[in-house]
Amino acid sequence: MTIPPSFIHDLLNRVNIVDAIDRHVSLKKAGANYVACCPFHNEKTPSFTVSPTKQFYHCFGCGAHGNAINFLMEYSGYSFVEAVQNLAAFTGIPMPDNNTQVMQKKGLHQVDGQPEKTARRAIQDIYEVMRIATRFYREQLKQSNSAISYLKQRRLTGETAARFAIGYAPEGWQNLAAIFPDYNAEKTRNLLIRAGLMIASDNGKYYDRFRDRIIFPILNQQGQIVAFGGRTVNHGEPKYLNSPETDIFIKGHEIYNLFSARKAIRNAKCVIVVEGYMDVVALSQHGIDYAVATLGTAVTDFHIQKLLRHSDRIIFCFDGDNAGKKAARRALENSLTQLSDGKTIQFLFLPENEDPDSFIHRYGKNAFEQQISQSIPLSEFLLTVYSQELNLRRDEDRAKFIHDVKPLLHSIRAPALSIMLLNRIAQMCDMDVQELESLMEIRRKISRSPQKNMHRKQPISPYRWLLLILLHQPGYFSRLDQKLILCSNDNNEELSALKVLIEVLNKNPEIVSNAPTTSLLNYLRETSFETLLKKIESETLEWNDDLNLDAEFSGALQKIADIQRKKRMTELHSKPLNSLTAEEKQELQRLAMH
Ligand code: UTP
Ligand code: MN
Repeated sequence: MTIPPSFIHDLLNRVNIVDAIDRHVSLKKAGANYVACCPFHNEKTPSFTVSPTKQFYHCFGCGAHGNAINFLMEYSGYSFVEAVQNLAAFTGIPMPDNNTQVMQKKGLHQVDGQPEKTARRAIQDIYEVMRIATRFYREQLKQSNSAISYLKQRRLTGETAARFAIGYAPEGWQNLAAIFPDYNAEKTRNLLIRAGLMIASDNGKYYDRFRDRIIFPILNQQGQIVAFGGRTVNHGEPKYLNSPETDIFIKGHEIYNLFSARKAIRNAKCVIVVEGYMDVVALSQHGIDYAVATLGTAVTDFHIQKLLRHSDRIIFCFDGDNAGKKAARRALENSLTQLSDGKTIQFLFLPENEDPDSFIHRYGKNAFEQQISQSIPLSEFLLTVYSQELNLRRDEDRAKFIHDVKPLLHSIRAPALSIMLLNRIAQMCDMDVQELESLMEIRRKISRSPQKNMHRKQPISPYRWLLLILLHQPGYFSRLDQKLILCSNDNNEELSALKVLIEVLNKNPEIVSNAPTTSLLNYLRETSFETLLKKIESETLEWNDDLNLDAEFSGALQKIADIQRKKRMTELHSKPLNSLTAEEKQELQRLAMH
């Protein structure tokens, strides 16, 4: 099977490598990138780095390097085609040509033992199982008086329940057998277990995971049902039972209602994050459609990053109790690295003993919006939380305050916010800002940029600069003086690699015209410079915004022209003067005058 390059290009542009890798290797945020212990070699400290902006991974330990497709090939042992198929299924993009029909065919597929098709079909089958189960649970809700009266008692209308596809899993151990007639066949059992709907007991019995629970379907970013949250209706434990993690569900990544709320979030220009499913549903019933919830986990930086892609303003709405305050603090700490000037994060605490669900039913939409308008900005919250138990008139308490907020200030990447906070802290502690800055070692941090270190370590050759910049932003190719490079004949590996790169870019103009998110290296596999180019591309990981690429680019070209000029002069000088032709003499004169 051949896959058109345009499809690969499209796929790589639409998939987020961080999501794709995080399914297999749990990634941690570190500055602008994500890191983990490398899955390709044994190590204790993480040197495996994934760049969300550049969409490639690189291991500083073993040199593993590539894009999302390369990762799956290396990690799962897939062929190129299998990796593309797996990634396409994960991203929810149908494969091109005749395979489209196979993938979109309704109903369950037989696993036919061909490894290439198995992975893709298995994923599709899980989605299909989830759709069938959702339909079943919704049907069951209509038939259960007790479930209906429970939802009524929680003041949910039928319309709201339908909009959120809320259902009911009846009592009993094997209700799903009604819709999966071969419930006890091994193939179906395995599928239901992989979908998280069936549990195998120790003594070899199989039974439904969700029993006598209200079912909240959880949709991923593509609107596919990937999991369920099930609430007990009779004080059973746990109160909420969620789907386990499966091939299509990573709990810490999904956000309840984000898919359906996207438009409302855009319109409202903000997103409210609440704690529970019922909070989201109740708010929506009262016309606040831009609320989402995590799935019973703390708010992580991953969530925040995802939400900030949808809105510049996040409002965390936590219960007024201690658990809510603790959750808010976690959210605060995880927000700091994600913040940039221009993004707003606010905190809203409801009165004690209220959650958004109870509040909105009791006081209505206007009162809730009134609360929203009074939510406090992150900076305010940070300073309050960290100073509330201290008496800042005492030296010891001031010292403790500074000690406590220091790591927080260090993780803030928004320069203006960081300066304003510093001013506020200085004020609160009745201190000189400069003094505080040096105490916090902030200034050193702000002024120390990675590429300055790079300069110090060793000068970068102009060929390497061109390689760095072209790998980083292939668009620069149109400004490259190709003749200058192709005539250069330094005995230099970087120059040779640059020539190969020029050849590839001339052959594949789509690289230059498309967004720079696709790792160009994909086109350079199997050239003898792959290793060098991987190493060079990885160096761009340390770049930040204050690097002037334009200046570096023309500077490098200038230097190369200079090198050529001097070389030619030496060449001409080395000949006896009387053997030079008239043109050569003129050339020498021209070169010397430069
Ligand atoms: P809460 O217990 O605050 O739920 O848990 P709630 O939404 O107010 O629930 P109701 O109003 O009593 O129905 C908040 C969220 O934490 C997760 C669920 O996602 C829930 O919506 N949770 C809670 C669990 O995953 N498991 C639990 O046992 C409890
Ligand atoms: Mn509640």
